[in-house]
Amino acid sequence: MNRGKFITFEGIDGAGKSSHIAGVADFLRARGKTVVSTREPGGTALGEKLRELLLHETMHLETEAMLMFAARREHLAQVIEPALARGDWVICDRFSDATYAYQGGGRGLDKGKFAQLEQWVHGHLQPDLTLLFDLPLSVASGRIAAQARELDRFEQERADFHERVRQAYLERAAAAPQRIRVIDADQSLEKIKNLVEETVTNIC
Ligand code: TMP
Repeated sequence: MNRGKFITFEGIDGAGKSSHIAGVADFLRARGKTVVSTREPGGTALGEKLRELLLHETMHLETEAMLMFAARREHLAQVIEPALARGDWVICDRFSDATYAYQGGGRGLDKGKFAQLEQWVHGHLQPDLTLLFDLPLSVASGRIAAQARELDRFEQERADFHERVRQAYLERAAAAPQRIRVIDADQSLEKIKNLVEETVTNIC
């Protein structure tokens, strides 16, 4: 049995990645793959409880970073690793790149500490492909404002926080161009969909 592939989606809040995840899952299923679609923080019963805390409770910034990795540990053990071992494809809405971008870039925490946690939690496993949805902050925040709903702790952060998150993502993409593909998310849904499908096809 061949191991499945692990694809992650990343980007600043409002980048529009979530609307393409269901489409990619359908695209892969039409090519005969069994697909598990999941998200972080979350993806397990415990992870979803941690997500609720992470998105809405005030906490020390290092607690926030460690809870992200704790939820990830559970997610890997319960969902991601068993699925890949079965030969399924896993599509995950955010993974460790998000911790580097948000807690490292946005919050300014020491990224060296994340490297240690990353090694502990999933030293043996990295995504096969990461799609980074990139677009100007003004476009992303306009999309969030148009949704007219209560914002979580991250969405409530100021523009400079989100700008640092964006830059941290782009730096990670520049450092790992073979894994992280930057998708220009400031174009039509149709164009993005084609680009995403083309990129995913390359690892099929
Ligand atoms: P979502 O809105 O894309 O589901 O993600 C929830 C929020 O969690 C989003 O604002 C980014 C944030 N986040 C982090 O800050 N660090 C992480 O490691 C992950 C996975 C998400």
